[in-house]
Amino acid sequence: MTLVRFFKADGTLDKEVEAASGQRLLDIAWAERQPLEGACEGVMACSTCHVIVEAEDFAKLPPASEEEEDLLDLASHAGRTSRLACQIILADDLDRLSVRIPPAATNWMGR
Ligand code: FES
Repeated sequence: MTLVRFFKADGTLDKEVEAASGQRLLDIAWAERQPLEGACEGVMACSTCHVIVEAEDFAKLPPASEEEEDLLDLASHAGRTSRLACQIILADDLDRLSVRIPPAATNWMGR
């Protein structure tokens, strides 16, 4: 199991959850009712699952694909450690993964 920490846009901790390795961060966010839209459900056709990853955790992630980098260019409030939640797969070395939901995140799909 891996601990995932979701922070609000203002930096305050919103929720800490245990999740199994191998799960997509986007699926965990939806299950925990975090305000990530994920409009394309992970087929890399939007940037609405954008999260800002804590720098130490960002360094542990596999590099983003060129396609992911292109989508991040379209994301609101993207920064140096931004990633798409649909592309982050939990692994044991990501324990205490900390992500912040950007201020422009919306939950249009009602999740
Ligand atoms: S849900 Fe659309 S790119 Fe992640």
